[in-house]
Amino acid sequence: MMADRIPTPVLMDVDTGVDDAMALALAWTTPQIELVGVTTVAGNVTLDQATTNTLRVLNTIGATDLPVYRGMNRPLVRDHFDAAHFHGNDGLGGAKLPDRDRSVEAMTAPEFIVQSARNYQGSLTLCFVGPLTNLAVALSLAPDLPQLVDRVVIMGGAFQVPGNATPTAEFNIAVDPEAADQIARSNFDVTWIGLDVTHSTKLYSEEWKQMSDAVSGGTKIVRDVCRQAFVDRAEGSMHLHDPLAVGVVLDQSLVEVERAPVQVDTSVRTTAGATRMMKSAARPDQNVAIKVDSRRFRQMFGRLLNVPIDDRE
Ligand code: BDR
Ligand code: CA
Repeated sequence: MMADRIPTPVLMDVDTGVDDAMALALAWTTPQIELVGVTTVAGNVTLDQATTNTLRVLNTIGATDLPVYRGMNRPLVRDHFDAAHFHGNDGLGGAKLPDRDRSVEAMTAPEFIVQSARNYQGSLTLCFVGPLTNLAVALSLAPDLPQLVDRVVIMGGAFQVPGNATPTAEFNIAVDPEAADQIARSNFDVTWIGLDVTHSTKLYSEEWKQMSDAVSGGTKIVRDVCRQAFVDRAEGSMHLHDPLAVGVVLDQSLVEVERAPVQVDTSVRTTAGATRMMKSAARPDQNVAIKVDSRRFRQMFGRLLNVPIDDRE
């Protein structure tokens, strides 16, 4: 039985973000995950905004004591660019979530990642749903980090499908290709959850429209952060990119993976940030998700966050 299992300790790194907000809500809601802390990074919005948004989301879901650590405010090498066109200028699609007198921890995100890995002695899962800057810096601080954590689940990449930030690159990787390249070359037990699978994992507007306004906690997150997309922009569906990464933390069998060395384009060409599976290379094989049981994931999402999900894929 799911509820009887010992919860998996998980550290989440976010650039909150509409779908990051839903991912946090999902991770907090399930008893199978023990969230040990949340780290923030510049991505969808600036680091300051991502951190403010994270605190607001955590206030809304009742995770008021969960520690939050600020990370890197820019990519390793390149200038930062955001995704405000999708997430709204505030990153939360205009959702008015409660602000509370609450501050972040003094330690930086990469330091907290290393400290947590040591504390949990090999049992910690890292779930990264933004650019990989904090993980690359943590790896520089502690080159033995791959041996100190259980596994890393990353929302990022577009392996056999077009990108969304550029024709070839997915946003999280396009923002910081050099950081992603370091993770691709590392010995972490990585599962890449790219657009190959997240583009077939959606929340539909008809489902969202059945939700009541009088909801709270994680359900309120889904209700409030999707309004701009479903009402103002009249979109028919929304990709559940970051929530799917949390789903895979909970149940790896949701995705079918191919094992291969991963290459990240770090050139200054327009293809920067593109990811692909290599035939062979002097780097470890990693897991690249190529298929998803989206129906099963959508049911999981609906059950945990109390969202009316139909039986579509
Ligand atoms: C990824 O980019 C961000 O905009 C989303 O939050 C998600 O992590 C999807 O490409
Ligand atoms: Ca994200």
